[in-house]
Amino acid sequence: MSDSLYPVPEQWARRARVDAAGYEKLYGRSIADPGSFWLEQAKRLDWIRRPELAGDWSFDEEDFHISWFADGKLNVAANCVDRHLARRGDDIAILWEPDEPSEEARRYTYRQLHEEVCRFANVLKAEGVEKGDRVTIYMPMIPEAAFALLACARIGAIHSVVFGGFSPEALAGRITDCDSKVVITADEGRRGGKRVPLKANVDAAAAHARAMEKVIVVQATGGEVAMQPGRDVWYHEAAALVSAECPAEPMGAEDPLFILYTSGSTGQPKGVLHSSAGYLLWASYTHELVFDYRPGQVYWCAADIGWVTGHSYIVYGPLANGGTTLMFEGVPNWPDASRIWQVVDRHQVEILYTAPTALRALMREGDAFVAKTSRKSLTLLGTVGEPINPEAWRWYHEVVGEGRCPIVDTWWQTETGGQMITPLPGATALKPGSATLPLPGVDPQIVDAEGNVLHGPTEGNLCIARSWPGQMRTVWGDHARFFQTYFTTYRGKYFTGDGCRRDEDGYYWITGRVDDVINVSGHRMGTAEVESALVLHPKVAEAAVVGMPHDIKGQGIYAYVTLNAHCVGDEALRTELRNWVRTEIGPIATPDALQFAPGLPKTRSGKIMRRILRKIAEGDVSSLGDTSTLADPAVVDDLVANRVG
Ligand code: WTA
Repeated sequence: MSDSLYPVPEQWARRARVDAAGYEKLYGRSIADPGSFWLEQAKRLDWIRRPELAGDWSFDEEDFHISWFADGKLNVAANCVDRHLARRGDDIAILWEPDEPSEEARRYTYRQLHEEVCRFANVLKAEGVEKGDRVTIYMPMIPEAAFALLACARIGAIHSVVFGGFSPEALAGRITDCDSKVVITADEGRRGGKRVPLKANVDAAAAHARAMEKVIVVQATGGEVAMQPGRDVWYHEAAALVSAECPAEPMGAEDPLFILYTSGSTGQPKGVLHSSAGYLLWASYTHELVFDYRPGQVYWCAADIGWVTGHSYIVYGPLANGGTTLMFEGVPNWPDASRIWQVVDRHQVEILYTAPTALRALMREGDAFVAKTSRKSLTLLGTVGEPINPEAWRWYHEVVGEGRCPIVDTWWQTETGGQMITPLPGATALKPGSATLPLPGVDPQIVDAEGNVLHGPTEGNLCIARSWPGQMRTVWGDHARFFQTYFTTYRGKYFTGDGCRRDEDGYYWITGRVDDVINVSGHRMGTAEVESALVLHPKVAEAAVVGMPHDIKGQGIYAYVTLNAHCVGDEALRTELRNWVRTEIGPIATPDALQFAPGLPKTRSGKIMRRILRKIAEGDVSSLGDTSTLADPAVVDDLVANRVG
């Protein structure tokens, strides 16, 4: 535990939008009078009809509902593009850095962005997309991905972005779940000098994705792809036929903006659904406060658009705020471990937002890769996605930021729409490893296993006691699952699935997931998903998957596999099974360790005792706890003896 305190640098305290006293005041108002606080905040958006209602919600079963600004009307794309045209039409909205460093960066002003988004929207319309239809976006990190999101928002279609690293099977499942007739993709993606066959993956998904009728293909690399007549359309050909003007559809505040699939502790990934106004307000509000963002600053969120971080902090937040958002096609360690810092220098990036896993990987390569760059433009650093270990925090602070830049360690989730617990650079003294304090409007509670609210310094399960505008509204197609997943563990509260400690200064320290979700390199993986993939293999009888500590990834995936009778668990099968999961879900789900187990520890009622499996995976076999309730205690000895890694 590291409780050393890094005070707010003096010039930050002086010039930031919110200082320590300002934070106290804002926070107090947000809790005492949320209605007027949020209606005031709502003025940051451009409304077609300004709302008079703020939050209307109840987390109780009898009356369960969540809505914000329900009588308001707006268009999200108009908020991110059109409203900036008068004052900032010639400012850079999107600054794109290609994978290949010798290639020129591309820049789009707000005026150009407007034209691109309108054109894309007209192509969607021409392909039959209407308000409320779902559109799946399976794209590399190219500007057209952002155009596609905004084009959907412009015409009121609901986008569902699927990360380009997911397999055809995973893609097909997501297309089918939300019944998406149109898929937008590219010929190929590029990452670290390698090609990703996106269009070919869509073709492979087609067999299991019957809803899919049209595929719009952006030409990104010029690589050869097969086009199916009647189904596949080249974007550039369709775009040449449509106008560069497209009216923005007036949308109700609560109309859905997007679906994003994320892993939970049970079953297949769920389609997290976000609203138009509440979500956009949250993205804009947090982006401005947490990064103290001012238009003109070059801001870089080094995430992929396939994750919620890319949605809120590459596209919606910065563009709603009239900012310049840098979009990076490549990876941090290619051509070498200097790349991030070179991009920072090349584009004079002031604010950098990335994941602890990337920092740990770069830290391992040594300081020389950092030291040979200037990084003088940087003023603020951020992290997201997983707890940051104090060692990586200090490296980021001392080596990358040369002690000059505060670090905002932002805790939030796909479900929350945007940042929730985080320092504000001009207001909050920092402690390495702590996400510090809740944003105004966020009401965290720590509860014990029975749901009792714990006060003062304590440790337990993290809940949020009241709704906030950016909260997800439902699980696509399964409202009962939404209530069941988040509001039944602790009645009347939203349960995050995270464990948390609160210290004597009221600072929050996220300790990681307390459910069956593991966080691999900042990406959420449901153990149940990996297990389902494994048991699809003809030789596998049963599988149990848990997390294990991993130096770079934070957590790795440890799989226990019981084979069918007469199958031999050798190295060849181990490799085959790891590759199997890779093709079923995607590279991020590949087990780091795979142990063949003749039996799994189960209670007499047949429930797998994951606690024991976790301990063995962690290598902590001296404290396995009570194993007497197991149906066959002897299996544990075998598991311990044959532990891998
Ligand atoms: C974890 C990513 C500690 C947490 C935005 C959460 C964090 C899950 C932090 C959500 C942080 C995210 N410190 N843990 N700063 N940020 N997490 O939905 O376990 O991909 O529940 O959203 O990541 O992951 P998701």
